[in-house]
Amino acid sequence: MNSGKKFDIYLHPPCLDETDRRQTEEVLASGWVAPGGPWVDAFEKEIRRLTESPYAMALSSGTAALHLALKLLGIRTGDTVIVPSHTYIASASPVHYEGGRIALVDSEPETLNMSPDYLEYALRVLKKQHIHPRAIILTHLYGLPAQTDEILSVARRYDVPVIEDAAESVGSFYRGRHTGTWGRAGILSFNGNKTFTAGGGGALLLKDKSEAEKARKWAAHAKEDRPYFYHKQWGYNYMMPALTAGLGLSQLKRTEEILARKRRLHRIYSQAFGNLPLQPVHETPESRSNYWLNAFLLDENFQAGKLTEFLQQKGIEARRFWYPLHKMPLLKDAFYAGQGESETFFERGILLPSSPCLADKEIERIIEGVKNFFG
Ligand SMILES: Cc1ncc(COP(=O)(O)O)c(C=O)c1O
Repeated sequence: MNSGKKFDIYLHPPCLDETDRRQTEEVLASGWVAPGGPWVDAFEKEIRRLTESPYAMALSSGTAALHLALKLLGIRTGDTVIVPSHTYIASASPVHYEGGRIALVDSEPETLNMSPDYLEYALRVLKKQHIHPRAIILTHLYGLPAQTDEILSVARRYDVPVIEDAAESVGSFYRGRHTGTWGRAGILSFNGNKTFTAGGGGALLLKDKSEAEKARKWAAHAKEDRPYFYHKQWGYNYMMPALTAGLGLSQLKRTEEILARKRRLHRIYSQAFGNLPLQPVHETPESRSNYWLNAFLLDENFQAGKLTEFLQQKGIEARRFWYPLHKMPLLKDAFYAGQGESETFFERGILLPSSPCLADKEIERIIEGVKNFFG
């Protein structure tokens, strides 16, 4: 098979080892690779161990988990949901699936996530228009926990529930609690490029038993508890297959090792670029980041696009920050609160390869590449 390799060093290939291979073989040998069953149960138990969430449901993707979280809150056609402008489209698309209206809120510069001040402003303006948003989706981008306390406090004042999109922050903690467990619901991603991968997949974190039962039912086509296929409501095919869960399980059993490698890489990058005109974005004193992707902001005279291209030409897959949602053709008419912060992030932000399995030689090559760019 042609490997189709475009880069020598990719942004975030999975970090697989012998444990992962053995675990996957064990699932195959068990003969149960289909959705649900004991491997999925074991993976969910491991997610609960890491996050201390009372309920955790493994699903086919983080996007599916966000969709179910919105369904649990009863989002219907015409309802407004607040979404960060600086995020991946998957934070917004499930709102669209339900016919919701997306209101965008821009970021603060410390964690790159939703600004509590802009959130407050957005809620005030929407209130004047007699719009009561049905939910706020809060991300923890690149693994960096948001100013969660401040966001939750604004949300409480306006009585709007928060769904945490912790797709990128599995293994990240805020004030000692796992991201995704602060809001009414939280979602995780185990996509192929994430810190811990299951090949693909996600999880929904909940606090309430009856909500967990509802979501579990929806994820399995809302099949009624009868010995034949009988349906009273519409559901979804969102369950996670056992083969996927097996890999996720062994990856989460390697949490300490993988997170230690991530922190080491962040330290090496931060030290190596000390004198260069690019600032690493660090975790805040109240948070602990998984450093999914090492994010840097270039000084104003430099363009992230140029550095990204320079590194890519050298076989190193660097990437720019997420393109602002309020600038996407899909959302150009959406409500927006902010002053173009995510546009600046896009112009000046760069993400460097961050796989926990990067070899020292590869790390040196990336650092050399960045240094060469600045001459
Ligand atoms: C911020 C964010 N939200 C949601 C998702 C969706 O997760 P998934 O790819 O598992 O559907 C992703 C990643 O892919 C993401 O980066």
